[in-house]
Amino acid sequence: MPNDYYHQSVLAKEVLQYLEPKKNQDFIDCTLGGGGHTSLILEQTKPHGRVLAFERDQTAIQASKKKLNQDLNRLFIVNSSYTDLKTVWPKYEKKMPNLQGILLDLGLSSDQLDKANRGFSFKDQGPLDMRFDDQQQTLTASDIILEWPEDKLNKIFWEYGEEKKARALTKGIIKNRSSWTKQKQKFITTAMFVSVILQILKIKETSLARFRVHPATKVFQALRIAVNDELNNVASILPIALEILPAGGRLAVISFHSLEDRIVKNYFKSLLKTCTCPKSAPVCTCESIARAKILTTKGVRPSAGEVKNNYRSRSATLRVIEKL
Ligand SMILES: C[S@@+](CC[C@H](N)C(=O)[O-])C[C@H]1O[C@@H](n2cnc3c(N)ncnc32)[C@H](O)[C@@H]1O
Repeated sequence: MPNDYYHQSVLAKEVLQYLEPKKNQDFIDCTLGGGGHTSLILEQTKPHGRVLAFERDQTAIQASKKKLNQDLNRLFIVNSSYTDLKTVWPKYEKKMPNLQGILLDLGLSSDQLDKANRGFSFKDQGPLDMRFDDQQQTLTASDIILEWPEDKLNKIFWEYGEEKKARALTKGIIKNRSSWTKQKQKFITTAMFVSVILQILKIKETSLARFRVHPATKVFQALRIAVNDELNNVASILPIALEILPAGGRLAVISFHSLEDRIVKNYFKSLLKTCTCPKSAPVCTCESIARAKILTTKGVRPSAGEVKNNYRSRSATLRVIEKL
């Protein structure tokens, strides 16, 4: 595996097409990752356009600094959650007078997924960790499995994983964890957890090849969402981004599963509300004025060529609005 960050930016051409970055315009990239989208934006906004970028993961920040070495004078990197945008923005507002767009490329990077020690993948042997921020926050996926009560576990498997067998899995995990706690196990590994899931579902390791999707996929997704509070983060950043954008500015969001996409889609729709005052009213008093226009009615999906080239892009959906 190469040492350098190798994540391939998803829907890159489409992001540029909708954000339309131009000479000297400024942008906010809420999820810098390896800096793929940011590098394209910096290229289009030369010579003075700036990007303010958020990233929780120090490893990703180091990789993007290396990649964007030539343009570091035009890039402000903040090592915290994009949910801090509202408090951080006043410090940069004056340095970025031409804010034109905000990008959110949700989820995790291929590099995070593939590194066994980050604990995101059921294919590797590593600690069941899943923190986006390189182990700065305290809560890990292992803590959730070892400590959370049954109803809370069931809820995340059911709601965040949309796992039909949530109850059976929860019951089986609770039964197993008493033996883990008896052995004073401080954390569990991805392999330990996967083997318990397979045991509960009565699936032999040797028969895994007949499953198109690994049976642990949904539970892993649920844990990752819970550890990083992903859905609440998405729901809270959207109105902040809209507030910060000037009229005519664009907000682009790439999501990778239906739970995130639903939050984005519903929020964007809520901005279209038109006046509900009676026709006879001389002036509008309901204040339901449309606040944005949707530029991507259906959500933009990657082309067959992109999916062939980068399989991870297959579940991506891009939605974009323009502030009115
Ligand atoms: C899909 S990757 C972004 C890839 C990037 N657009 C590129 O082209 O290289 C998503 C990144 O968002 C980061 N991330 C996730 N949640 C975050 C949050 N709340 N605040 C800041 N960064 C976050 C992850 O650590 C990950 O590096």
